[in-house]
Amino acid sequence: MDSSKIHVGFWFGLASLMVLDLLSSGVWNRPVWTSVSSFPRQNKTSTIPKDELEEALEGASMENKTLIIGVVNKAYTKEGSMLDLFLQSFQLGEGTQFLRNHLLLIAVDQTAFDRCNLKRLHCCKLKTDGVDFSGEKVYMSNDFLKMMWSRTLFLTEVLRRGYNFIFTDMDVMWLRNPFERLSHELGEDLQISCDFYNGQPLDWTNPINTGFYFVASNKKTIALFDTWYASKNESEGMKEQDVLGRLIREGVIQQLDLRVRFLDTLYFGGFCSSGKDYGKVVTIHANCCVTIKPKIRDLRAVLDGWIKFRGRSDGTSTGKSNSTSTVLWPSYEGCFGIKPNSTSTSNQTSTPSNQTLL
Ligand SMILES: *[C@@H]1O[C@H](CO)[C@@H](O)[C@H](O)[C@H]1NC(C)=O
Ligand SMILES: *[C@@H]1O[C@H](CO)[C@@H](O)[C@H](O)[C@H]1NC(C)=O
Ligand SMILES: *[C@@H]1O[C@H](CO)[C@@H](O)[C@H](O)[C@H]1NC(C)=O
Ligand SMILES: *[C@@H]1O[C@H](CO)[C@@H](O)[C@H](O)[C@H]1NC(C)=O
Ligand SMILES: *[C@@H]1O[C@H](CO)[C@@H](O)[C@H](O)[C@H]1NC(C)=O
Ligand SMILES: *[C@@H]1O[C@H](CO)[C@@H](O)[C@H](O)[C@H]1NC(C)=O
Ligand SMILES: *[C@@H]1O[C@H](CO)[C@@H](O)[C@H](O)[C@H]1NC(C)=O
Repeated sequence: MDSSKIHVGFWFGLASLMVLDLLSSGVWNRPVWTSVSSFPRQNKTSTIPKDELEEALEGASMENKTLIIGVVNKAYTKEGSMLDLFLQSFQLGEGTQFLRNHLLLIAVDQTAFDRCNLKRLHCCKLKTDGVDFSGEKVYMSNDFLKMMWSRTLFLTEVLRRGYNFIFTDMDVMWLRNPFERLSHELGEDLQISCDFYNGQPLDWTNPINTGFYFVASNKKTIALFDTWYASKNESEGMKEQDVLGRLIREGVIQQLDLRVRFLDTLYFGGFCSSGKDYGKVVTIHANCCVTIKPKIRDLRAVLDGWIKFRGRSDGTSTGKSNSTSTVLWPSYEGCFGIKPNSTSTSNQTSTPSNQTLL
């Protein structure tokens, strides 16, 4: 736990417009990521002088250069807010406690950075000049979009440095260790959660959700993220999730020969759609929901149910395991107001109309 004071300052362009201009004029063919101390990019493996980002990545990653990355702002790090709930899920989850040490939080404002450090997590600070990221950012506002894109740029750099990661939104509860549920069968490059799942793990028409995914670092995934970021320019007003969705529909998986697995919502669920089974759930995401308050309320209810489920099924009293969940999954009263009738069987590919940042 020597990580409490890592400060990584990134100047993501003097203004993001500058980056756009340069990208479009073809001067830079890769995302521009200017850190304080510049370093040679050509030699990927050996002679790169260690900078602060590298230290942060090293500190958080497992032996196989794999880590968990999340983004936080002031609103999400408030006492009793999303970050607390998120960390609580790690604590209450099955075999998830140790994962806290492999979590790197990207703070987008000073307050979030300070609070992250107070919790003795691995933290680094993403700096985007001229934008105040501290408030709650409502879906599709300008700041929301800027934030989304700057995080895509950041994640590209992480891949370029050879780190695999799970990216997680903060409104995802980790109830079981996702690494154990992820597949290694095909040498998957990307395994991504979905708003809805059509039962076909390799079918790219599954509507993705970028709130939770695993990506392995290699040439192909770096190319994917480069392409993703580069599309920012032609995707005015679209958020990065929709842009990636569009790229997929346009065939980027085939073009880059990516092995992509779409994650079953039975295990990697969300409020849009999930198995609603405590015996199966690995992660649960408050997607299809608008703002922080109702998300927190409903995620708490999920956690409460989880506590009951664990109390009944894991050895604390009788020792016998009861694999079918007997605890009812909560309805999402905060997010949906009334009890939803049925699990969604929607065939829609559009994302919910309003979401909150992070
Ligand atoms: C990589 O490093 C080696 C030895 O330090 C050097 O000879 C080589 O030119 C470098 N390659 C590039 C592409 O910079
Ligand atoms: C890295 O190691 C962890 C812990 O052993 C394992 O669960 C995970 O699957 C590994 N990740 C990769 C990408 O191999
Ligand atoms: C990229 O953005 C610049 C500046 O907004 C614009 O002039 C240019 O036409 C865009 N290029 C493409 C391919 O959309
Ligand atoms: C599982 O739990 C239910 C309800 O708590 C109980 O009726 C049932 O006997 C349990 N099954 C086993 C195998 O423990
Ligand atoms: C819920 O179910 C009832 C009875 O099946 C039906 O009348 C009602 O329209 C449903 N409500 C929603 C929101 O689907
Ligand atoms: C969704 O399914 C309904 C009926 O099952 C169908 O009428 C509708 O056209 C479908 N929508 C899309 C976008 O496929
Ligand atoms: C989405 O949020 C915006 C801004 O808060 C609001 O104006 C709009 O009505 C919302 N749209 C829907 C469908 O809720």
